[in-house]
Amino acid sequence: MTDEKRHAPATLRNRQPLLEALRPHLPNTGLLLEIASGSGEHAVFLAENLPGLVWQPSDRDADALSSIRAWMGDAALPNIQPPLLLDAGDPRTWPDLRPDAILCVNMIHIAPWSATLGLFAGAASLLRPGAPLCLYGPYKRAGQHTAESNAAFDADLRARDPAWGVRDLEAVAEVAVGHGFAPPVIVEMPANNLTVIFRKAQ
Ligand SMILES: C[S@@+](CC[C@H](N)C(=O)[O-])C[C@H]1O[C@@H](n2cnc3c(N)ncnc32)[C@H](O)[C@@H]1O
Repeated sequence: MTDEKRHAPATLRNRQPLLEALRPHLPNTGLLLEIASGSGEHAVFLAENLPGLVWQPSDRDADALSSIRAWMGDAALPNIQPPLLLDAGDPRTWPDLRPDAILCVNMIHIAPWSATLGLFAGAASLLRPGAPLCLYGPYKRAGQHTAESNAAFDADLRARDPAWGVRDLEAVAEVAVGHGFAPPVIVEMPANNLTVIFRKAQ
């Protein structure tokens, strides 16, 4: 089982700052749906540190689901559900759940824009008024990269797949508002990343 575990080194650096950035914006109890959980390392760490929440990981990739199950198995936490196959860009794969919060870390720049559109459409249909959709990752602001390292990362992403790339925060916020979310709360994070909290309008 353990050989299916993937390890994303960045998770060890960003998980504690991510926890502190999210904590004030998440409910103390309820169901959190995580989109694009990847290795599952954030799911295990955050579920352990936010024990009032029930964590529902997901990803569109079957190998990621195996890794999440493996990390979950080792952690043996009572508040993580088995991962779901969920492609943010495919409305047929969105579950019939009523989460109290949704989290999506480091996906929207490593997926086509359609995944961002699907993320907001799906989140808007599941979340109740006032509930948060929290994103984490690098962003451009007013069309500009905020650091040379983000510009280089963006060029690398686009070389790997022209449909990928660091997104404009304003473009993402425009999609969000179009789906009934309020303008975001923005938390500056280490390594030129942002945590961005969109709340479904009341
Ligand atoms: C860079 S990894 C981030 C994983 C994890 N959130 C983290 O920060 O370590 C990107 C993840 O997004 C997932 N992904 C890409 N497109 C997706 C989509 N349309 N719907 C759901 N997950 C997607 C990939 O399978 C991958 O696990």
